[in-house]
Amino acid sequence: MNKLIVSLLLTVGISGMAHAAGDAAAGQAKAAVCGACHGPDGNSMAPNFPKLAGQGERYLTKQLHDIKSGKRTVLEMTGLLTNLSDQDLADIAAYFASQKGSVGAADPKIVARGEALFRGGNLAKGLPACTGCHSPNGAGNAAAGFPHLGGQHAQYIAKQLTDFRKEEGGRNNDGDTMTMQTIAKRLSDEDIAAVSSYIQGLH
Ligand code: HEC
Ligand code: HEC
Repeated sequence: MNKLIVSLLLTVGISGMAHAAGDAAAGQAKAAVCGACHGPDGNSMAPNFPKLAGQGERYLTKQLHDIKSGKRTVLEMTGLLTNLSDQDLADIAAYFASQKGSVGAADPKIVARGEALFRGGNLAKGLPACTGCHSPNGAGNAAAGFPHLGGQHAQYIAKQLTDFRKEEGGRNNDGDTMTMQTIAKRLSDEDIAAVSSYIQGLH
């Protein structure tokens, strides 16, 4: 492992927030309104709406707090979380975390480049392998809050990486360590297309 990934792993791992424990059964009813876009069980059909099924509870809870507070901008969800309490958010996160995520297919033309990047990073560009945090099968690390990526829509993944790469108006809720912003800035458009396609078929 190179120095970047070691320091990122150390800092990301200890910077978690404490949240109320979620109740998946209570969360199902509270998540009814979310199903229109994310799918009733969290397996959305549209490629711009992320799948939430099987996503780590800690990661989901953090995103919900960030979206609610405006730290992460999701225009489609404007106002939707305003009246939900911390307990509601925890319950909804527990519900989607308990569902089984579906898997898509990778584009055979670019999958090899995507796999090499995901598994090996790119030493010359100082890019750590994605597997170090998101695990070899893309399951992530639920306890650490590293998101599950495997099977996620390529279009959604590519948008996130492009947003993390933006200097302004992008996605910058990846904490003080700016792990994903640092990584995304080292990815070319071709890298993003290839690794996103690989992730869509990964399981
Ligand atoms: C009108 C469509 C719509 C509805 C309804 C909706 N969302 Fe979303 N949601 C989105 C979109 C679009 C994104 C991704 C935005 C982006 O590209 O960054 C998103 C992102 C998310 C994310 C971040 C996922 C990730 O992998 O980081 C979570 C969590 C989430 N939504 C939860 C919910 C919950 C819970 C509800 C119901 C209370 C809900 N959403 C309702 C459209 C919707
Ligand atoms: C050092 C750990 C680490 C490494 C290495 C890493 N990530 Fe991440 N990644 C994270 C963390 C932590 C988050 C969640 C940030 C947040 O809280 O919003 C994340 C979030 C993401 C997201 C957003 C997921 C979603 O559902 O919105 C994508 C996409 C992503 N990473 C792709 C990658 C790719 C591709 C690579 C390899 C080129 C990579 N990551 C390498 C830690 C890492």
